[in-house]
Amino acid sequence: MSIDANDISRTMQETYDHYFLSDGYRRRYPEPNVATMTYLLEKGLAEVDQILDFGCGNGRYSLALLEKSQAHLTAYDISAASLTEFESRLRTTSHRERVTFVYGDLDGLNRYACYDAILMLFGVLSHVVERNLRLETLHKMRSLIRADGKLILSVPSIFRRRPWELFKYGLARTLGHARPPHDEAGNICFTRRIQGRNLTFFYHLYSLRTLCEELAEAGFAISEWQPESVFPEWLVTQSSLMRCLDRRLCSWIPAELGYGMRVLANPV
Ligand SMILES: C[S@@+](CC[C@H](N)C(=O)[O-])C[C@H]1O[C@@H](n2cnc3c(N)ncnc32)[C@H](O)[C@@H]1O
Repeated sequence: MSIDANDISRTMQETYDHYFLSDGYRRRYPEPNVATMTYLLEKGLAEVDQILDFGCGNGRYSLALLEKSQAHLTAYDISAASLTEFESRLRTTSHRERVTFVYGDLDGLNRYACYDAILMLFGVLSHVVERNLRLETLHKMRSLIRADGKLILSVPSIFRRRPWELFKYGLARTLGHARPPHDEAGNICFTRRIQGRNLTFFYHLYSLRTLCEELAEAGFAISEWQPESVFPEWLVTQSSLMRCLDRRLCSWIPAELGYGMRVLANPV
């Protein structure tokens, strides 16, 4: 059976609402990936005025950036529960007045355009499994970013993630049985049990080439790329030992062998 874009978007919304409401996300990823956070600071994000965290989740990166900067931050997500969790975490800080929340309405992002930096961290773009919608999203980011702005995003690598699902949907395509969204190479879907409920995740998995191509179509050029981590993100955010080991390994391997790939793209 084909699944249309609205069904996918609704499923992802329900998945993440439960993930955040059940506290499953915070337990699994209790803090930012330190290597990515360090990278954001190296790229000058503590000095900019306007940041958009697109697919901000519970604000694990936004909160850390608010601590380090005086920037105004726009926090966008399709999960209302994620924004509620972010807002409640902000209440214990003095940063609330520097944050604008935008829930699921892309036009709501126009208010602070142009952004100096746009973040799409830890697989946000991959959840938009239809190519034309990903391009629409990236074109929107292009329209919102300053001419000298920075787009920093990370996506799961097709060479590291979900080999069984890739095989299964690849075989269905070869045999002519694949229905949308699985008729597109790299699209997968899987179920994970989180806090007592089976949750469905849609993902588009990327190679560096396919990511470069999509970004180029939307008017961005990649200038830097690295592995986001070698070990799964939950491991590097929960164990300082694994984090140290991971940082060493990351300096030796190509981006595509990372669990995820982190790239810096600039508008052209
Ligand atoms: C893996 S989480 C990453 C959250 C955050 N960036 C982080 O690093 O913790 C993916 C996030 O993308 C959001 N998301 C899923 N589909 C989206 C879409 N079409 N547009 C914007 N955000 C989306 C989810 O609600 C979720 O908060």
